[in-house]
Formats: sequence, C-alpha cells, structure tokens
Amino acid sequence: MRLDHVGVATQDAASLAAQYASLFDAEIVHEEEFDGMNVCFLDLGNAYLELLEPTGEETTIGRYLDENGPGMHHVAFITDDIEAALANAREDGVSLVDEEPREGAWGHTVAFLHPRDTGGVLVEYVEH
Ligand code: CO
Repeated sequence: MRLDHVGVATQDAASLAAQYASLFDAEIVHEEEFDGMNVCFLDLGNAYLELLEPTGEETTIGRYLDENGPGMHHVAFITDDIEAALANAREDGVSLVDEEPREGAWGHTVAFLHPRDTGGVLVEYVEH
C-alpha cells in the first residue's frame, strides 16, 4: 500500500488549488461536484492533493469546517484490493466508517476507517 492523496477541507477550492499549484508545482488534473462537495485533485507526481469544498453548510464537509475550520481532513492509501484491505482492518479491530466500499470522487472506489482507532487520523482506502 502506498500514499494516494491527502484530503484538505477548504471553503474555497479554486483559490487554494491555484496557490498549491504554484507552491508545489502541482497540476490540477481533476475537478468535479460530488456528494455535496466541489472536489479538486492536484497531481504531485507521486501522490495527489484532494481539495474538498462544501456546496452548502448542511453537508458533511460543511459541518466539518464549522467544527474544525479548514485544514487537513484525511489521508488516503491506495490498494488494489479494497475488500481485502477492509477485511484486514476489521480483523485488526479497527472501526469502519464504511462497512462496504462505495463510490467516491473521480469514479474511485473508497472506504473510510474511523479515526478513533487510527491515531486520530481519518484514513481512506482507495482503489482505482
Ligand atoms: Co479522499
């Protein structure tokens, strides 16, 4: 497994994307509205940054920003067998946010682990 992306919650994905593109020499490679978010991916060469901007206050990311403010939201690891990765996490006693893999942004298949069992880090498994 290796790092796929770091997710960042923001109220303004477009301007943060422009800043990150310049700061990190990263190319904006994907943008879409998905599940109450404007999502933007920047390619760093060996990993991505995923910017998450809520489309409204009553969305998952809208509520997250309300409570925590902008900043790092999750870390995503890529696997070529997300079912096996989830089964392994379950076996290790890690609470799952998603009991089953589901569709994520960019057509990816994703599942989140609960941060209470992963050192306070919201972990995403992603397969694509
Ligand atoms: Co993500």
